[in-house]
Amino acid sequence: MVLPMRREIYRMDRQEAVTLLERAPVIHIASTTPDGAPMLRTVHGVVVDGAVAFHGAPAGEKTETLGQDAVISAEEMVAQIPSYFVDPERACPATTYYLSAQVHGRLEPVDDPQAKAQVLRALMAKFQPEGGHVPIDEDHPLYRNAVRGILIVRVSLERLDGKAKLGQNRKPDELAKILELLWNRGRPGDPRAIDLVRQANPTVPTPPFLKAPEGTQLVCALGPDQVDEALSLLDGTYWNEGVPRDAIAQALLSASAWVGARDSSGALVAMARAVSDMSKAAWIYDVVVRPDWRDRGVGKAVMRLLLDHPAVRHTRKVRLATRDAQGLYEKFGFRDIRNVPSASPNREMILMRGVA
Ligand SMILES: CC(C)(COP(=O)(O)OP(=O)(O)OC[C@H]1O[C@@H](n2cnc3c(N)ncnc32)[C@H](O)[C@@H]1OP(=O)(O)O)[C@@H](O)C(=O)NCCC(=O)NCCS
Repeated sequence: MVLPMRREIYRMDRQEAVTLLERAPVIHIASTTPDGAPMLRTVHGVVVDGAVAFHGAPAGEKTETLGQDAVISAEEMVAQIPSYFVDPERACPATTYYLSAQVHGRLEPVDDPQAKAQVLRALMAKFQPEGGHVPIDEDHPLYRNAVRGILIVRVSLERLDGKAKLGQNRKPDELAKILELLWNRGRPGDPRAIDLVRQANPTVPTPPFLKAPEGTQLVCALGPDQVDEALSLLDGTYWNEGVPRDAIAQALLSASAWVGARDSSGALVAMARAVSDMSKAAWIYDVVVRPDWRDRGVGKAVMRLLLDHPAVRHTRKVRLATRDAQGLYEKFGFRDIRNVPSASPNREMILMRGVA
């Protein structure tokens, strides 16, 4: 069931709303006690079997609300948009871009020990993914009493609504300007905000900093959802030989800047990342373009975006090592660090900016 939304332009795809609930570190529950007193709680929640579920002590306040109607909410701030991005004088346009998911439903107890154990396993997998405990089974001597004693509550996702407030009320040209201003501002979440605003507003003209070869679109902030695709792109690259996939994945996720390009089907066809101290130095790694997209300017576009990324653009030195793509980097002003060949087959290159 879909609830009316004041402005339909902000409605989020249902699956995205489920994903938002799944990744939310906490969820909020608003309800009433049987005597009508309002109640608001923040809990760790998981999505299991078409419901959002959480746990509590069997004698706590949450027990009183069983059977009551409730609203469950999770939200993620995307970017604060200052008024002066839109109007140099009036404060009124100041706003926040955000994602939120709300579930309206009834707080139902989960009584079946098997179903309770399933929720507890999901909670452990979400909040302690590293393991380090005996797997939860309702009949295991370690857990038999605990599973039966704990309170597990569920609210069906039948009435789930997601809202993505990402500038859909703005004209395409205004939004293109906001993207440019977000990129220039460059707060930590701003590159991701730019990607989300573009996804939600596909007709926005491409601002100059995102210009890419025909048939591709640049991405400012790759993240956990792109790790598998990125690992495929990096498969067989000489500089990752012998490095375990987990280690490469960790390096990707720890990057200060991780940009890419997609083709018109949405597939990731190029990427590059940098590790930066935001001031003195940045190191560039993992510059790669899918073979069928090479020699069409995608590598250059991705490199340009990476060097201009807020985490990289202010660094005085940018370094990298390459075996054979010196020509690409020379175009951006990189020079060999040494005049004599180094012992390593990879030649180190450096880009000096604002330094004599
Ligand atoms: C190197 C790589 C990223 C370049 O991407 P690309 O999309 O093919 O490059 P572009 O089409 O944007 O080319 C940009 C320019 O750099 C030049 N260039 C690209 N690769 C080069 C190379 N290996 N050696 C010398 N020049 C190169 C191109 O000739 C082009 O010059 P132009 O602007 O004068 O035409 C891509 O070929 C690749 O993924 N290679 C395998 C992985 C790799 O070697 N990565 C670099 C490790 S540091």
